[in-house]
Amino acid sequence: MVENVHPVIETERLLLRRMTPDDVEPYCAMMAREEVARFLTSDQKPQPYATAWRAFASMLGHWEIRGFGMFSMIEKASGDWVGRTGPWMPAGWPGLECGWGVAPGHWGKGYAPEAAIASIRWLFEKFADLDRVISVIDPSNVNSQAVALKVGETETDEEFLFDGKLRLKVWAASRDEWMPRFGQ
Ligand SMILES: CC(C)(COP(=O)(O)OP(=O)(O)OC[C@H]1O[C@@H](n2cnc3c(N)ncnc32)[C@H](O)[C@@H]1OP(=O)(O)O)[C@@H](O)C(=O)NCCC(=O)NCCS
Repeated sequence: MVENVHPVIETERLLLRRMTPDDVEPYCAMMAREEVARFLTSDQKPQPYATAWRAFASMLGHWEIRGFGMFSMIEKASGDWVGRTGPWMPAGWPGLECGWGVAPGHWGKGYAPEAAIASIRWLFEKFADLDRVISVIDPSNVNSQAVALKVGETETDEEFLFDGKLRLKVWAASRDEWMPRFGQ
């Protein structure tokens, strides 16, 4: 599935593009927030700058190794970086995930579902052999479950042990059900 691509996906209010080194500061600021890190890290704690910096570097590395990775979400109206959404499948992951994380000042605007629907469509169109897209979600993460439902995922009975310590549920969207509903 390795292919070098540099897509820019435009939605109603967002541009989704490959992460670049310029995104490191807003990314680290987001990961310093307790309410975000709680559901994006396996220790559920805010990330110190150096830890978030290394995690960001792994996201750039994911693009290099896989040819795709998380998109930065850029608000068209302001040009601001507002979060990251998109494909994520590091070694040991239970499938090709669409993940989402939004800076708290932008919660509740529907940015995560807007970006995730565009990302999932991009994945199904790009990879013809991809049967399903998953999201791994903490059972207590009601905000993320709300996003998953909006983007056409349903909860499965599969579990994933994140870093061997945090039990997450696998949500999934199958190509056959998703494309007639959300494909163009
Ligand atoms: C989950 C997350 C990405 C949702 O992003 P978003 O762009 O706000 O998505 P939505 O606007 O669709 O809101 C989703 C839900 O969050 C809740 N929500 C919205 N605004 C909120 C706010 N200001 N404070 C608390 N919860 C809020 C609502 O329950 C909403 O669901 P609803 O629209 O059915 O009422 C965001 O909350 C986030 O980044 N959380 C921390 C990281 C995370 O959990 N990532 C996913 C890991 S699996």
